[in-house]
Amino acid sequence: MKATAKAPANIAFIKYWGKKDPKLRIPPNNSISMCLSNLYSLCTVEFRENLSEDKIKFLGEKVVTEREVLRIIKVLDRARKLAKTKLRAKVVTKNNFPKATGIASSASGLSVLTLAVTAALGVRLSKLELSKLARLASGTACRSIPDGFVEWEKGTGPEDSFAKQIFPPDWWEIRDVVAIVTHKMKKVSSTGGHALAETSPFYKTRIAGIKERIRKIKKAMKSRNFTVFGEILEAECLNMHAVMLTSSPSLIYWQPATLAIMKRVQEWRGEGLESYFTIDAGPSVHIICQEKDAEELKKRLSKIKGVLRISVNKPSIGARLIDEHLF
Ligand code: PMV
Repeated sequence: MKATAKAPANIAFIKYWGKKDPKLRIPPNNSISMCLSNLYSLCTVEFRENLSEDKIKFLGEKVVTEREVLRIIKVLDRARKLAKTKLRAKVVTKNNFPKATGIASSASGLSVLTLAVTAALGVRLSKLELSKLARLASGTACRSIPDGFVEWEKGTGPEDSFAKQIFPPDWWEIRDVVAIVTHKMKKVSSTGGHALAETSPFYKTRIAGIKERIRKIKKAMKSRNFTVFGEILEAECLNMHAVMLTSSPSLIYWQPATLAIMKRVQEWRGEGLESYFTIDAGPSVHIICQEKDAEELKKRLSKIKGVLRISVNKPSIGARLIDEHLF
């Protein structure tokens, strides 16, 4: 009745923004991502006879919102329904990075919970079924279940909307150098942001172009063409942020340091250090580069005002059960 799991955050090269079905978290388009080796969540779940209610603890977090607790209870309820049990659980969870700053804490946090909860209850699910279940907790969580480079297929409904591997982690030695520029939680959650997407006059144009971008980026990934890959992923980031900036009300997730990094990455590229930026729903910047350039980028980023922490990530495996419990 006890299980512990570890799951990575993931970075999207082609993004998911806006929802076709907000309740079932069905996206308007497919998205492409990579699991990250050094940004992850851990979670231990134990179901006990003597508990009258679920006990949830977030290690290392000063602020825990009611919304976060309710989201976890919903995952527990879904698993209880599958296992046909009413048992309550003790849940202890932790991230090795600040949550709600644009590093997909909901992706790692809710995929790790989905795996730990189902394993603790003895519910055996395939990766595909786990991905679907994780999607109900947070859309991007479905992409932290498979290993390596992943595509979330939007599907037509809840049964065929899930993520699957397109290339294994060792397919390509690229790196995601993440520059964290704040430890403060963002004011508008991504769930709130998704709901605003359609108010942007650019939303429909964005969605209309995605299929072709996916085709092109997958081709570049297959042939390991870093320049074509990088140009597509940076343009895609700006495309999604154009929708965010022009939503009503407008969503500006960037901080001054975010913009400073974006400008520097483009300048460095002009000088021959090839890397491309991408940003999710927060101010942190992900700089995608080839293995040989990661250390130099880290050195240069550390000199930019406002950069608090840098994490260098390889493509990694997805969610896994581990033996070391948190309690
Ligand atoms: O955190 P979620 O699952 O509500 O979605 C966030 C989506 C982005 O991170 C902004 C883009 C993406 O595809 O990861």
